[in-house]
Amino acid sequence: MTTDLSAETDLSPASSDPTGLAGPLTTSAAVLQGYAGSLMQTFGTPKRVFVRGEGCYVWDAEGRRHLDLLAGIAVNALGHTHPTVLSAVTGQISTLGHVSNFFATPAQVALAARLAAMVEPEGADEARVFFTNSGTEANEAAFKLTRMTGRTKIISTEGAFHGRSMGALAITHNPKYRAPFEPLPGDVVFVPYGDADALAAELDETVAAVVLEPLQGENGIVVPPAGYLARARELCDATGALLWVDEVQTGMGRTGSWLASVAEGVRADVVTMAKGLGNGFPIGACVARGRAASLLPAGSHGSTFGGNPVAAIAGLAVIAVIERDGLLAHAREMGEHLAAAVTGLHHPLVAEVRGRGLLRGIVLTAPVAAAVSDAALDAGFIVNAPRPDVLRIAPPLVVTAAQLDSFVAALPALLDSAQEHAA
Ligand SMILES: Cc1ncc(COP(=O)(O)O)c(C=O)c1O
Repeated sequence: MTTDLSAETDLSPASSDPTGLAGPLTTSAAVLQGYAGSLMQTFGTPKRVFVRGEGCYVWDAEGRRHLDLLAGIAVNALGHTHPTVLSAVTGQISTLGHVSNFFATPAQVALAARLAAMVEPEGADEARVFFTNSGTEANEAAFKLTRMTGRTKIISTEGAFHGRSMGALAITHNPKYRAPFEPLPGDVVFVPYGDADALAAELDETVAAVVLEPLQGENGIVVPPAGYLARARELCDATGALLWVDEVQTGMGRTGSWLASVAEGVRADVVTMAKGLGNGFPIGACVARGRAASLLPAGSHGSTFGGNPVAAIAGLAVIAVIERDGLLAHAREMGEHLAAAVTGLHHPLVAEVRGRGLLRGIVLTAPVAAAVSDAALDAGFIVNAPRPDVLRIAPPLVVTAAQLDSFVAALPALLDSAQEHAA
């Protein structure tokens, strides 16, 4: 039997269910059936159907509670349905929802000023912001900005992930993502990540930009050697290339500071951000400083939604709560707590815990991370497996030690069951 999704919907303002959601889509099975029939299969089959969230928990359509240790892939920094975000967003959308970039709004300008100050804390150079709706688009804007230098060559890194649009894909390394869509925008070379000498060997006066993640999230929370970013900065300065740091995953407090690069004392020319910025509201930003700030002149780029006041107010609310509640320090403390607790299990399947703040990878000694992640889901914990041997933990920054401990207590059994299945 197929679910009739075209059933008549009462759209009158008096209806208590104007979108018709309370109709046929009330069970997980019905939603998954509808999904299979109406969405592209880009993401495969969803593992669960979630209908409600609060703090670090989400509930599925059957009322089962899950501890969200992935936060929508490092997005829900303040957890779900945070009251400050709710009140900011509902206040803004009930006042003014959208005007386009023909016009300006106070929320957009206020958020731009906050992000510019993150990228340039000393205010020595003036930073400028281009707003987008995602990390991919922030990188797309940055890519176009680099072309305005008059040079075209870009150096990216092996294992890099920067998004899936044609431009972002051109600087993303994974051949599986790239191959079906070639030819991609050219003049991109890849050097081994974390190897400053390899970067030096490739860098010369023809290079427009070097693009780097402070640590590689999608590649399995790969942390480069200390001083790598600083060396990249020096090398870029010596050749006139722009240093473009992709902080889409690492930024906004995820690694225990506003920006991982700034925490290392490195000032990039271009910083791209998204994910945690809107706590789930789609927003991204390409922030440029110094000479890079004026490389995209009027008419050179655009976006209908970018900097939308509702998305911008969500960003302002996130920044305000992170500041008010001391969540940068909390993220550092909780990250250390988790790493120590998992390491302390001395489980034979755990090789190490790496990462920074609340962006952590539990590295396994066997390629069973997907099975562990599935077992975790069955046990009510959301994590994921960016690589066959790495589990990613990226919970809301408000996660408590007790919540992390509940996962650590369950972990040995999850690891054992995955190992048994693999055997
Ligand atoms: C470092 C990095 N850059 C860019 C992106 C793409 O961002 P989005 O999915 O918001 O387009 C991601 C997403 O995982 C990312 O981790």
